[in-house]
This record gives sequence, C-alpha cells and structure tokens, in this order.
Amino acid sequence: MSSQAKPSSAIQVAELRRMREAGEKIVALTCYDASFAYLEDRAGVDVVLVGDSLGMVIQGRNSTTAVTVTDIAYHSRLVAPFLQRAFLVSDLPFLSFATRERALDASQRLMQEGGAKMVKLEGGREQADIVEYLSVRGVPVCAHLGLQPQLIHKMGAFKVQGREDAAAEAMVRDAKILEEAGADLMVLECIPSSLGKRITEQAHIPVIGIGAGPDVSGQILVLQDILNISPMVTLGHKPRFVKNYMEGAPDIEGAIRAYVQEVRSGKYPAPEHCFQ
Ligand code: KIV
Repeated sequence: MSSQAKPSSAIQVAELRRMREAGEKIVALTCYDASFAYLEDRAGVDVVLVGDSLGMVIQGRNSTTAVTVTDIAYHSRLVAPFLQRAFLVSDLPFLSFATRERALDASQRLMQEGGAKMVKLEGGREQADIVEYLSVRGVPVCAHLGLQPQLIHKMGAFKVQGREDAAAEAMVRDAKILEEAGADLMVLECIPSSLGKRITEQAHIPVIGIGAGPDVSGQILVLQDILNISPMVTLGHKPRFVKNYMEGAPDIEGAIRAYVQEVRSGKYPAPEHCFQ
C-alpha cells in the first residue's frame, strides 16, 4: 500500500460527532503559524482554529473587523501542512459572507488555498440561508453564537450575551435554526453556563464553548491568551474565561499539553472561568 493510500488518523467531522456522543471533551485552540501548529498537533489539540482573533493577537488591532479573507487564507496556509491529526477550521472574516456569492468565494479560498476543512461564521438565524447555501455545496460550517466580536462597532463593548430571558430564548432558537440549516459544529462565546448547557443538550452537533461553562462538548481558547502574551491580557484586560497555562509549565509545549489535559478531564473551566 502506498503511503498516500494509508488510512488517515486525521480528525474529521464524524470523529467530532463521535466524541460528542461518547462524552469525550473536544479540545480546540486558535493557531496562526507553522511552529505553533506543529506543537498544538503534537500536544493533542483536536480542533485548530485560524480565527480572526489574529487581528488582535497577531496584527495588534483593537478589533477583528479589519481582517481579510487574504489574511485568513495566508495564516491557514501556514498552519495546515503541520496538522497531522487536528481538524482545521478557518474564520470567515467580517462581511466576507454578506452575500451567498461572497461566502462561497471566501470559503473556496479558505479551503483550496488555505487547506481549511471547515469555515466558521458569526451570527444567528439571519445567517441560516448562508449556512445552508454553503453546506449543500459541500462546505462544512461552524456557527458562532453568543458574543460576536465582528459586531463590536454596533455593540460598543465585549460583554456577556444571553443573560435576559428573551435573549436566551432567541439564542436557543438560533442554535436550532443554524443546525437545521446544516451547521456541523457550533461555537458559543461568553454566555451564562446554564444557557451553554441548554443549547448543548438540545443540539445534535458538537458545541464548543469559550466562556460558555463546563457543560458543552468542548472548549476553545485563544493561544496567546493561554500563553499569557496577548496584548489584551498583558494590558490587564483578562477575560474571565482565560487561564494562564504558562503558570507552572516547563515550556510552551508543556502549557499547551496542560490545557489539553485540563479540558479533557473537565478541570477547565472551573467556576471562576464561567458566567452566571
Ligand atoms: O477568532 C477567534 O479566535 C474565535 C474564537 C475566540 C472562538 O472566534
């Protein structure tokens, strides 16, 4: 058998679904370059996200809105070749999915040029049409509900979402609509733990939380946050859900391994990382 024909140990959507069903926690982490891609893959991270958070942690901007499809494709291309096992998701940046055509073009670039296996887009039921359009054309989609950093200029500040009953009900409904539209994965950002639990229990797809409590299928954090080197964290604006894994770690790989181990075992997130 040639090496190309060997069965691959690379994670696919079906494996993420299996993990969800088996109650095995999925470990996700952002990544933007080759060196860290190699370390994250080796440390056992399941899902690697080339997120538009690169606007803040790599480009040094104070929001994600200036990030382009070219930026995400570029960083995805750096990361993809170093993932033997982890599943690569790349972000559709601000306005790149404003129309069906733009969403399809951007997804094509991220998958063909960048090597992404899935694209992620922010938004609720208003994005269901785009999710369905991509999904039926063979583009796996990760939905992103709760705090949507791309809306910063409308919201004015990053804050916990879904605390009021009406907003929580709307988010539960949005999650169902996006799943029915074809989303294969979902990220929930900055919401009360009880709402994260409710959406996860209702879903038939894996739900990855960032500040969404412990009762979700897995966790994601921004790499620079767990290494305690992101500009926001070093300037003293540490979001509640961030944990510094450099503390007590022998080196960077050790910090990433500690994160993987704590997500898998359920030690992270602890109550101090969660919202009521
Ligand atoms: O861009 C990003 O890094 C993200 C994660 C925070 C989920 O969307």
